[in-house]
Amino acid sequence: MRQQIAAANWKMNLTYQQGEQLLDVLLKEAIALKDHQRAVFAVPFPYLIMAAQKLDGKKGYAVSAQNCSDKKSGAYTGEVAAEMLKSINIPYCVLGHSERREYFGEDNLTLAQKVLLCLENNITPIFCCGEPLHIREANAQQEFVATQLKESLFGLADDAIRKIVVAYEPIWAIGTGRTASAAQAQEMHKHIREFLTAKYGAATANEIPILYGGSVKGANASELFGCSDVDGGLVGGASLNASEFASIIRSLK
Ligand code: PGA
Repeated sequence: MRQQIAAANWKMNLTYQQGEQLLDVLLKEAIALKDHQRAVFAVPFPYLIMAAQKLDGKKGYAVSAQNCSDKKSGAYTGEVAAEMLKSINIPYCVLGHSERREYFGEDNLTLAQKVLLCLENNITPIFCCGEPLHIREANAQQEFVATQLKESLFGLADDAIRKIVVAYEPIWAIGTGRTASAAQAQEMHKHIREFLTAKYGAATANEIPILYGGSVKGANASELFGCSDVDGGLVGGASLNASEFASIIRSLK
């Protein structure tokens, strides 16, 4: 079975001590993950080593960065390079979150660079895509997301695209409490898989996990993850509550 992933995106929330406590409480739930399941925690940079240590030896649990630089190294004050993440054994990195695109001007071509740098450093990108409300209202979401994927990912060879995790996050559903319906999520995920199939073939497209993000919570996770092309979720707000996120992990197929 394709990998199923519950990914927590803490964003710029929680102090170090609150982060430690959240992980401690969550790990006390002792949720055993199946071979194809993963629970990933995208935490702020200064918490990566702490989180990695807490998750060490817990099967299927892993940490993720929330971003990395599009430059390899050098005089870029305040940036964090993929190679630095590799040097502390970080296995995942979220790329192209809509907040990065909106507030920090990240575009599809910059993201293509970040994807390459992560892959060169053996880091799995969790590549975010998704349309804003006005695009959804114009019913142009499929073309919009296709362009994001094409410009950032379609330069990759077959063996490289297989290492990507895609997260579809309609911007109008992020942090708004307005979740896409399971039918809307499945329709878009199916479209993304078909788009990947057209470029890379079905065998490859069927291997790539496509996560849904946007107001996922304990109460709607099972229905969303139950859709055949939804392979888990990227979760913001609800990942800041241990029992909510535990229930989301338990909802994985
Ligand atoms: P949300 O955020 O779950 O709070 O809507 C999701 C995300 O931004 O990844």
